[in-house]
Amino acid sequence: MRTNVAIVGAGPAGLMLGRLLDLAGVDNVILERKSADYVLGRIRAGVLEQGSVDLMERAQLAGRLHAEGLVHDGTLLSFDGDSHRIDFKALVGRSVTVYGQTEVTRDLMEARTGTTIYEADEVQLHDFDNSPSVTWRKDGVTHRLDCDYITGCDGYHGVSRASVPATALTTFERVYPFGWLGMLVDKPPVDHELIYAHHERGFALCSQRSPTRSRYYVQVPTSEKLENWSDEQFWDELRRRLPARTAEALQTGPALEKSIAPLRSFVAEPLRFGRLFLAGDAAHIVPPTGAKGLNLALSDVAMLADALIEHYGERSDAGLDAYSVNALDRIWKAERFSWWMTSLMHVFPDAGAFGRRIQRAEFDYLTGSLPAQQSLAENYTGLL
Ligand code: APR
Ligand code: PHB
Repeated sequence: MRTNVAIVGAGPAGLMLGRLLDLAGVDNVILERKSADYVLGRIRAGVLEQGSVDLMERAQLAGRLHAEGLVHDGTLLSFDGDSHRIDFKALVGRSVTVYGQTEVTRDLMEARTGTTIYEADEVQLHDFDNSPSVTWRKDGVTHRLDCDYITGCDGYHGVSRASVPATALTTFERVYPFGWLGMLVDKPPVDHELIYAHHERGFALCSQRSPTRSRYYVQVPTSEKLENWSDEQFWDELRRRLPARTAEALQTGPALEKSIAPLRSFVAEPLRFGRLFLAGDAAHIVPPTGAKGLNLALSDVAMLADALIEHYGERSDAGLDAYSVNALDRIWKAERFSWWMTSLMHVFPDAGAFGRRIQRAEFDYLTGSLPAQQSLAENYTGLL
């Protein structure tokens, strides 16, 4: 089998890259370890920057997004019960759209015209310095795909980054001493916008997927076990951390899904190794506080798609040569913002009294300063 671009991973990064290449007539094959149902069953974040909405339009897939997505012009921040709305629209003239990553993935999967091989086991990358190929096993048989380029869109635990010699890779990492316990519930959201709450017991987030489906999170220690949290315990803890009026308005119900995700900042450099390119979570992780993970994955593959299309169309490698530097520039800015918002909104076990006062001063500075709010709004809605 032969193709132009072998794409490893059918998350939003791999599927969007495949879609953009298909629309431009660049042949590609996607290899995914899991089944399509498994990929669609993963519950992930759901806030799209305008740039991500624009990309869905370019992919000719924005119909359902515009019909069902919820446009948010602001968000509420609360600190020990004191609340302040950040008005994105007034501050920077932009908004975000709440539309689940699962829905983005479904739209991309349904539109896919190129070949996707699901349940591809033991994917291996070969000779990406010269003449790349990918092998995998399916139904007990080993298959091989020769290609011009391999794109590693296979997430943080994928095989692509792991295939690069350690000496060629520099990694930067911060692991936070806590995770998010998340719960999905078929109840209307407590507010029409998101609420990010700092409380002395820990961070909490009120998010949503639709007018009838909500997503809530509470900060928990990394060591916390899911089985220690009944639905009732979750609701009690969430209520404690929210402003009183929000806590009273909260509509609770049985969990549709409940999981704990660790928080991590991670960047691998560079993003190109000969004919192998990394994109999305394969190359970087942000803590979810700034809602940047999905947006960053999509902006990586928009750049990579343009570069590959330029290579096949105009026979120019300028975009491919610049991809790593240009994508990393945006990635590090999103890393900074996600780290900053995480630092402001969470309780750090070792912060001490000084650290907590600094967090409070940061919140007071933010809520009293239009330029500071503008900076938050600019980053949250997406740097241009
Ligand atoms: N072989 C083939 N596929 C693999 C392999 C492998 N060895 N390892 C992982 N995969 C697949 C995973 O099953 C997954 O479907 O790669 C895909 C990677 O998808 P994501 O983890 O969703 O990563 P990405 O597409 O970069 O999207 C990033 O996901 O984690 C969130 O916050 C993050 O929203 C962001 C988005
Ligand atoms: C979510 O809805 O899952 C969500 C929203 C905003 C975030 C993180 C997660 O910052």
